[in-house]
Amino acid sequence: MDILITGGAGFVGSNLAMHLRQAIPDAAIVCMDNLYRRGSELNVARLRDAGVSFHWGDIRDLAAFPAGPFDYLIECSAEPSVLAGQDGNPAYLFQTNLTGAFHCLEMARKWNSRFLFLSTSRVYPIAKLEQHPWQEYETRFAWNNDINSPISAQGVRETLDMTGARSLYGFTKYAAEQLIEEYRAAYGLKALINRCGVIAGPWQFGKVDQGIAALWVMAHHFGRKLSYIGYGGKGKQVRDFLHVDDLCELIAEQIRDFDRWEGWVGNVAGGLKNSASLQELTEVCREVTGNQVAIEGNPVNRPNDLRIFIADCGRLFQRTAWRPRRDVREIVRTTAAWVAEHAEQLRNL
Ligand SMILES: NC(=O)c1ccc[n+]([C@@H]2O[C@H](COP(=O)([O-])OP(=O)(O)OC[C@H]3O[C@@H](n4cnc5c(N)ncnc54)[C@H](O)[C@@H]3O)[C@@H](O)[C@H]2O)c1
Repeated sequence: MDILITGGAGFVGSNLAMHLRQAIPDAAIVCMDNLYRRGSELNVARLRDAGVSFHWGDIRDLAAFPAGPFDYLIECSAEPSVLAGQDGNPAYLFQTNLTGAFHCLEMARKWNSRFLFLSTSRVYPIAKLEQHPWQEYETRFAWNNDINSPISAQGVRETLDMTGARSLYGFTKYAAEQLIEEYRAAYGLKALINRCGVIAGPWQFGKVDQGIAALWVMAHHFGRKLSYIGYGGKGKQVRDFLHVDDLCELIAEQIRDFDRWEGWVGNVAGGLKNSASLQELTEVCREVTGNQVAIEGNPVNRPNDLRIFIADCGRLFQRTAWRPRRDVREIVRTTAAWVAEHAEQLRNL
């Protein structure tokens, strides 16, 4: 079995390559990446040491793909920041997330590859999420339960009305989802789409605008200041977290049993059980690392931010016995252990 992972030196792509190497030992895996993401270069040696081939290439260029064919193409490359384009320069975002996804689909069509797409919960329209009624509790915000709404305390379901703006990043991922549907209809492409919430764990090079759990853990390890940005600056905004190893286990199952998963589009996330506010994440980081860092409050909201995001994975759970096995504490523990082991490389990133 030949597998191409685009964005294969990134957080998800590299962890997935390492996982599939073990889970499907007869698979030959090629990771393609242009090393755009700061830190992704550190993954190249790690991949090669594990017997995964690395191909430097930019998905914006159709001629830059490795020679195929591949049985599976897993598209994990992206400009993954929800703030991308806010600076007035959306070109890289569109060229990678849209044109690049189109190129991946073209290659999958040429090679007759099965196609797996890493999409995002950011496809859901921002106003729909922000307008759902919520309550403020001591350490977090929580959505109200409403049995007639696709949003409840358990999270957002896939039945949410998709009308409305979703950030430029969210748009590119939603447009790519739509394009995949068109390729399935027009060319019989075999494909599935995992709409992921926040993914976290080792080998995530966290930044303020993407990779919040790793950013938080690294700040606690290195004694760096943090900020609670937006929603009053109290750190009560909530996300659900999925450990990257849990995601990899699901994707390995999807590859092994692809025909049953073909056509899948749905939420893949930690859910309410694996949710935490920033305040709660701080508490876990303090317990795990034994360090406390200064955290200032900045009440001003950032563009495209969300008070709460939790995905309801009911549709997913009807399809599979897979469940997230690693909770927020385990995410912090494994990330902190990775940071401690690679502190010298990570200190100046
Ligand atoms: N991390 C999350 O929380 C999360 C959540 C939902 C969805 N996703 C999706 O999962 C996928 C992987 O995200 P990630 O967290 O691993 O991000 P990442 O930034 O760590 O990885 C993306 C990789 O793509 C590479 N890349 C960027 N532009 C490229 C180009 N033009 N050509 C080739 N390679 C290019 C980068 O160098 C990087 O290594 C993305 O599609 C993202 O939208 C991530």
